Amino acid sequence: MHAFIMANMDAFECIATKLDVREFSSQNISAEIKSKILEAARLTGSGLNTQHWRFIVVEEKKNLKKLAEDSTTGGWVSGANFAVIVLTNPRHKFHMIDAGRVVQDMQLAAWNYGVASCLFTGIQDEKLRSDFGIPKDLTPTIIVGFGFSAKQISGKRKNRLPPDELVYYEKYGNPKGA
Ligand SMILES: Cc1cc2nc3c(=O)[nH]c(=O)nc-3n(C[C@H](O)[C@H](O)[C@H](O)COP(=O)(O)O)c2cc1C
Repeated sequence: MHAFIMANMDAFECIATKLDVREFSSQNISAEIKSKILEAARLTGSGLNTQHWRFIVVEEKKNLKKLAEDSTTGGWVSGANFAVIVLTNPRHKFHMIDAGRVVQDMQLAAWNYGVASCLFTGIQDEKLRSDFGIPKDLTPTIIVGFGFSAKQISGKRKNRLPPDELVYYEKYGNPKGA
């Protein structure tokens, strides 16, 4: 069945089941799904609606390899089907928040169609800038790689802290019902 018509997750299920995946199969991602992922980015809200972000889509194998070489923590991106370099403008103090939101929206939109992804932030700045023609006023904040997972990931549990270690009520440290 085509992945596009398999989209059937509600927002919570999408969040609850998505994992960051670093091993991808060679299965191609349709242009239709790619455009949904990029549309999710475009539709994301940014601070003051500045939309200061720009996106470089990397699809060619040789450029995905370059991207991996220009990273310190994202070597796996060479195996992705495509990647997006998220550029934000550091003039806005909220630029990294915007980057996080737009990447999460792209990842969730992808996962809705069964496409897995992971992000990295470890970048060799000078190399990346020169290889991808990134202008001085923009920062390559996050890179996200997409592809169908090489392994079955449905049913895998997330390693997360329990709610009572994370959530307080009315005042820091108060458990529910205290
Ligand atoms: C801000 C941020 C930076 C991250 N940087 C990297 C990175 O440089 N390299 C990498 O492989 N994964 C990176 N990740 C992925 C995290 O390791 C991953 O989200 C975390 O382990 C939870 O994964 P899970 O949802 O599959 O359980 C980053 C995630 C976030 C949110």
